[in-house]
Amino acid sequence: MRTKIVAGNWKMNVNEVESTELIQEIKNSIQNLPLENTRVIVAPSFINLASAVKNADNSKIEVAAQNMHEATSGAFTGEVSADMLKSVGIKTIILGHSERRSLFNEDDELLSKKIDTALANDLEVIFCIGEHLEERKTDNYLLEVGSQIKNSLFHLEAKDWKNIILAYEPVWAIGTGETASPEQAQEMHYFIRNAIAKKYNKELAANVSILYGGSVKPSNAEEIFSQADVDGGLIGGASLKANDFTAIIKAI
Ligand code: PGA
Repeated sequence: MRTKIVAGNWKMNVNEVESTELIQEIKNSIQNLPLENTRVIVAPSFINLASAVKNADNSKIEVAAQNMHEATSGAFTGEVSADMLKSVGIKTIILGHSERRSLFNEDDELLSKKIDTALANDLEVIFCIGEHLEERKTDNYLLEVGSQIKNSLFHLEAKDWKNIILAYEPVWAIGTGETASPEQAQEMHYFIRNAIAKKYNKELAANVSILYGGSVKPSNAEEIFSQADVDGGLIGGASLKANDFTAIIKAI
C-alpha cells in the first residue's frame, strides 16, 4: 500500500523564530491524530533546517529541504550539498519545483543529475512536475509532464523508485488561488502512474506516492485527496498557517 503524504513547502518564508513556533503549533495540533499510513513533512529554508530537525524530534513531523546542489562538494558559492543536508538530519529533498525550473533555470538534464546525487546519498526525493498554462490550453499537458518524467527519471533502475515521491503541480495553479479540478488532477495522476507502469511495471507504479500541489487549502483538500491516484499534497501558502495545514492533514 502506498503512503499518503502531506508536505508543506515553506519556500522563502518563515524566519528562525517563526519556524520554531510553526513547528511547535503543528506538533501540538497533530499529536493526537491517528495518521495511519500518513506522513507529515515540512520544508523550511536551508538556514532553518538544523533547528527544525531538532524541534521536530520525537514528533510526527519530518523535515525536508527545498533544494540541493548536484555536486558533492567544491567551489559553488552559496550552494548546499547532499552531505551537508544529511549531516543535519535531513532525509528528504524537494527537487524540480516549478519556481526552481522557471526562476533559476533548472532543466530536466540538471534535475536528473540532482536526482542521481540525492539517491547516491540515500536521500529521498519529492520530484515536482507540471505543465504551464499554455500547454494546458493547447492540450499538450500530458505530453509535457510525460517528457519531464522521462527526461529526469526514466534512467533510474526499478530499485531506485522506493526513494521517489512525485508531486504533480500544474504551474498555473501554484500560488494563483486556482486549483486543478479533482478530475483534472486524477486524469494527470493516472497518466503519470500509467507511464511509470509501462516503463517499469504495474506493481512498482502502484507503490509510488503521487502528490498534488497548487492552491490546496482546507476548503478543497478533501475533494482532491479523494481521487484514486492522488496520495496527498504538496502545500505552499496554506502550509504557513498551522490551522490550515492541520485541516489539510485531516482531509487525507
Ligand atoms: P501553493 O504552492 O499551495 O501556494 O499554490 C504549492 C507549491 O508551490 O508547492
